Amino acid sequence: MCGIVGAVSERDVQGILLEGLRRLEYRGYDSAGMAVVGSESQIQRAREVGKVAALADAIEANPVAGHMGIAHTRWATHGEPSQQNAHPHMSGDRLAIVHNGIIENYQELRDELKAEGYEFTSQTDTEVVAHLINKHYQADKNLYKAVKTAMTRLRGAYALAVVHSDEPDHMVVSREGSPLVVGVGIGENFIASDQLALLPVTDRFMFLEEGDIADIRKDKIAIEDRDGNAVERSITRFEHASDSADKGEYRHYMLKEIYEQPKVVKATMTGRITDSRVLEQALGTDAAKLLENVRHVQIIACGTSYHAGMVARYWIEELAGVPCSVEVASEFRYRKHVIQQDTLFLCISQSGETADTLAALRQAKKAGFRAALAICNVPGSSLVRESDLVIMTQAGPEIGVASTKAFTTQLVALLLFSVALARHNGLSEEKEAEIVKALHLVPGQVSDVLALDGEIENMSKAFMDKNHSLFLGRGSQYPVAMEGALKLKEISYIHAEAYPAGELKHGPLALVDSEMPVVTVAPNNDLVEKLKSNLEEVRARGGELFVFADKAAGVKAEPGIHVMQLPSVHEITAPIVYTVPLQLLSYHVAVLKGTDVDQPRNLAKSVTVE
Ligand code: F6R
Repeated sequence: MCGIVGAVSERDVQGILLEGLRRLEYRGYDSAGMAVVGSESQIQRAREVGKVAALADAIEANPVAGHMGIAHTRWATHGEPSQQNAHPHMSGDRLAIVHNGIIENYQELRDELKAEGYEFTSQTDTEVVAHLINKHYQADKNLYKAVKTAMTRLRGAYALAVVHSDEPDHMVVSREGSPLVVGVGIGENFIASDQLALLPVTDRFMFLEEGDIADIRKDKIAIEDRDGNAVERSITRFEHASDSADKGEYRHYMLKEIYEQPKVVKATMTGRITDSRVLEQALGTDAAKLLENVRHVQIIACGTSYHAGMVARYWIEELAGVPCSVEVASEFRYRKHVIQQDTLFLCISQSGETADTLAALRQAKKAGFRAALAICNVPGSSLVRESDLVIMTQAGPEIGVASTKAFTTQLVALLLFSVALARHNGLSEEKEAEIVKALHLVPGQVSDVLALDGEIENMSKAFMDKNHSLFLGRGSQYPVAMEGALKLKEISYIHAEAYPAGELKHGPLALVDSEMPVVTVAPNNDLVEKLKSNLEEVRARGGELFVFADKAAGVKAEPGIHVMQLPSVHEITAPIVYTVPLQLLSYHVAVLKGTDVDQPRNLAKSVTVE
């Protein structure tokens, strides 16, 4: 999704902006651009379709040197990926703007501005904002005032950064619905849509809030809230090691992040459990008071995070006996719901900036849920700031578009939450101790699965020339199968569908033949015998099976049934461990197919628009 970087400094900002864009590449984009106010107070602009490297080449050939500039990676919403549609957009030759988000009333504004004589060179909603600000600029020749007035006309979601060559000492930025962070430097200041972009230049950040407008100078940051009050936004330090955004020895971020799982899964439980207990206080000082009265849990999330929520439903209902509903945010936000009394609203999001999830949270806060709990990976994100209680996952920055370590750490956080809730609902000390002991074993078990990487890579060859595949699981392994199917389709572009294994004969069995590989996760649990019958149904139709199974599950390898034995795992923690081989399988299929593993086509890391 689109990315913004900006800098006001003593030094030339080209390098800072380019490095910032490189660090935002993981979000997914189709073109990149930069506008810098030069020493003659003129705006110099470069825009290229494709990778940031193409922009870097263009800038090397024709430098855009200067002390203040804005830059952008665009993910097309209004208008195809093209140089003309790439940001920054200009109005005349003195005002430039970059924008994330979507302006919903852009057509109405475009018609109005056209009637007033403004000419459009792109199909974007952003150019409309550029002209609108320019129009207001003509009244007072004051950029800050012009942006502020223009904001009153904009409907939709946006983060904006605007420069004017007649005011070469400052830029004006604002946010409404899309994230924007100010990086605080010494004698220089920065802005970005994601703090990762600015880690080479600062580790101190101010998060702008909804409706904020800010004046950014090299030695001063002044912020006003939506009501026009001057406000201070507190400065927080970035918590993760700065090398966490590097690929290191790995070929792809996704592989690096898969391999980080033993460490980050452990980090997510560290300090929150003893040998035998979940430390409820570690989930938040108000956790005990809050959980005491919860009678229903409503989970909301998107994509991979939604799958984590689906696993959690099994845990919450099984361990706590508390009813739990799970829904994708984009559906939840557009329907009427019956809110049961004392319902806890639980949002799960890696980025904490997913537009649908945030919209659902904002609705829920008005609708009378008991409280809002967030499970999130990004400190300072909108979700974290707007929730009553937060359990942070400790995955560190996740750069690969396909979520891996974020998912397994979400599962850990959700299991801690489920146990804490269950304790208020009659979970015995023995059972809690059993689960916590099983949790302690998970990092080691994930390492054991990673040791099977070579075998999984070998297995992946069977998928290379296939167009479709089926993933099966039962019980809490059904969402694991869904997550495996999502991983395969998003990075290898092979069509993959997941089914609860018991549903096979109600339709999808018709698809099974030798061209349809069927992947199954089979830990040793109550459902394994039923699962084995489902596998027979596939085998009888000539389908080739790839089974990840507990040794004790007794699934035997034979022609057409490939079995990979996984470590013996407690039934409750099995979804965390069984996810990992499916991640590796997708990764290797994608590498064999030569797709862009870290930035799959058409996808973005952080989906900040609807
Ligand atoms: C898939 C993936 C997406 C995200 C989804 C929600 O690999 O990463 O499906 O899970 O866009 O994002 P967050 O968790 O940031 O709200």
